[in-house]
Amino acid sequence: MKRTTRSLEERGFSPKDIMQKAQRVKNDEFYTRYEDVEKEILMYDKSIWNNKIVFCNCGDAVDDDEKHTSAFALYFLRHFTELGLKKLICTCGGMDLLNQGAQAYIFMKDRFHERKDFPKHYTGSFDDPLSLKILREEADIVCTNPPFSRAKDYWKRIIESGKRFLIISNITNAINTGYIPYFKDKKVWAGYHETDWFLSPKRELMRAAGYWFTNIPIKNRAKYKQLKIVPLKAIPVQYKKYDDSRTLLAEKGYIPCDYKKPFAVSARRILNGLLEKGYKIVQDKQYIPYVDGKKHFARVLVQEEQ
Ligand SMILES: C[S@@+](CC[C@H](N)C(=O)[O-])C[C@H]1O[C@@H](n2cnc3c(N)ncnc32)[C@H](O)[C@@H]1O
Repeated sequence: MKRTTRSLEERGFSPKDIMQKAQRVKNDEFYTRYEDVEKEILMYDKSIWNNKIVFCNCGDAVDDDEKHTSAFALYFLRHFTELGLKKLICTCGGMDLLNQGAQAYIFMKDRFHERKDFPKHYTGSFDDPLSLKILREEADIVCTNPPFSRAKDYWKRIIESGKRFLIISNITNAINTGYIPYFKDKKVWAGYHETDWFLSPKRELMRAAGYWFTNIPIKNRAKYKQLKIVPLKAIPVQYKKYDDSRTLLAEKGYIPCDYKKPFAVSARRILNGLLEKGYKIVQDKQYIPYVDGKKHFARVLVQEEQ
């Protein structure tokens, strides 16, 4: 069979690069389930979508066969009229090893037309000049599940764009140094749900620790209930340990309401909405406690707002 694309080696990748790329691809190729998209979107006021342009910009395929259409694209296609959308734009490219020769495209639907463009030299990457132009000039709300291997760049782009977004990323981002400043500056917060199950390229269920993140206002966050905000002396001793530097480690959802110094909490508490309850993050990087010289799991340092 005639080869139409050059191999990775021919394109200057070493065997090591290829292995690393293969590993990245393996981590990136998991797909969001339709029911997870539906469950999260239903939590937001329907009016946020009205007359808006939704941009799905990471491997959000649109195909005649719904099985090969991204759950994000499918949700917005099915609910286009009900949500009063102005336009849906989805991009998809041959960024993975298997589809490296596949042509990247931009799918667009407005109230009257649907079309797929295959621009020359377009890669489909979220940071391709054409994708960035759409982000800058057209998109109102960006919704997708970005590739794990590029999540840091993705978050930077999307937050700097100033656009509204609703995306899935790793649950631990709230205590990951690369992302903590965004939570600290209230540029992002947790959405409503955790997403534990995804689909493999063979459409088999696979587990991964995902969570929804957004800058769209949240109403009646059910997870506030997991925060037990009480006076320090009401916290059971086993849940208020101090580490070797005398920093309080607040555990099991207990949060002191009368403690003036910084204390450490797990990612869960940030996801439960702690920063909406009068507490702020006070350190840009993650906090690793040591107790009796033994390393404990990573957290973030917070403090009651004065
Ligand atoms: C976690 S999957 C999610 C796919 C789809 N959005 C969904 O939610 O089912 C991430 C997708 O991003 C694609 N991808 C990898 N690098 C990318 C890049 N630089 N720009 C855009 N998409 C990329 C991967 O091929 C993969 O299909």
